[in-house]
Amino acid sequence: MHAPDAYACSHQFSGRAPRGASPDQGTTYSDYLHLAELKASHQPRTQERAESRFIGLHHTAELLLGQQIEELDLAITSLCEREPNVAAALTCLRRSRALTEQLINLLTLLPGMISPAEFATFRHVLGNASGVQSAQFWVIEILSGHRETARRRLRALDSSAEETRTLEGRLTSPNLWDAFLNVVGGSADDAAGLLNALSSGGPAAELANALRMHDLDWVRWRAQHAIMVEAMIGAVASGTGGTNGARYLWSRVQIRFYPILHEATSLVHQHRAASS
Ligand code: HEM
Repeated sequence: MHAPDAYACSHQFSGRAPRGASPDQGTTYSDYLHLAELKASHQPRTQERAESRFIGLHHTAELLLGQQIEELDLAITSLCEREPNVAAALTCLRRSRALTEQLINLLTLLPGMISPAEFATFRHVLGNASGVQSAQFWVIEILSGHRETARRRLRALDSSAEETRTLEGRLTSPNLWDAFLNVVGGSADDAAGLLNALSSGGPAAELANALRMHDLDWVRWRAQHAIMVEAMIGAVASGTGGTNGARYLWSRVQIRFYPILHEATSLVHQHRAASS
């Protein structure tokens, strides 16, 4: 199947040294990884040791989110080619799922690393800073096909001009759902039509399954984040980013990137029940 022009991929992969560049014999481990810059970015605002752990965990999360964006970009590019490369996309989605798993683990780990009382000793220095301003998190939602919340939130995000430009650009670029439609054709417009594609097995069905699991992994992330927040600040305290805290986060657990895929999954069972 061919990529409609509207879905032609235009992702830019930047900031990399060209492949095959001659190795620099003087390079050390810390030069290569820019460890001095990494260490310099770790700047607690209080003397509280727990704040250092808090920053470390957030930096780790942002690195994992960045890696996931690369995998999703590559998956979309592979599927938007004139001859979609489903196998390559599935490999990227597998790696992406491994990264989401680590992001979930990190949230599970957090209350064991910082107690609510320790958090209270430095929470004031966050001011209005909140994970809700993580541009990379919103890029993942946009790439996954859920543009609505990011579009609504864009103005309230307090992002830098560069982050705003990136998010606006992402909002008009092809996402995973566009890329999926490019592979399965028009049949994905309704759950019944999609069911045919899914029942036929093969790469389209495998891809649909990978998307469904990517979606449900992020449901698990949102639920684990809400649980962790309740463990850290309770069920009613407000967030530093201006929401009503855990209540807002639980409402976000309802979001699905691909409701139609879940509908098609229910149809599989309804059809089986009707035919037996
Ligand atoms: C003590 C630890 C944490 C607490 C108490 C906390 C609390 C909150 C709260 C209350 C919100 C809602 C927005 C607000 O009003 O601030 C939020 C949103 C968010 N947080 Fe956290 N968070 C913590 C750690 C993390 C970590 C480690 C990450 C990793 C990336 C993270 C990522 C996010 C994201 C992406 C959102 C937006 C979620 C959405 O809108 O669905 N948070 N957080």
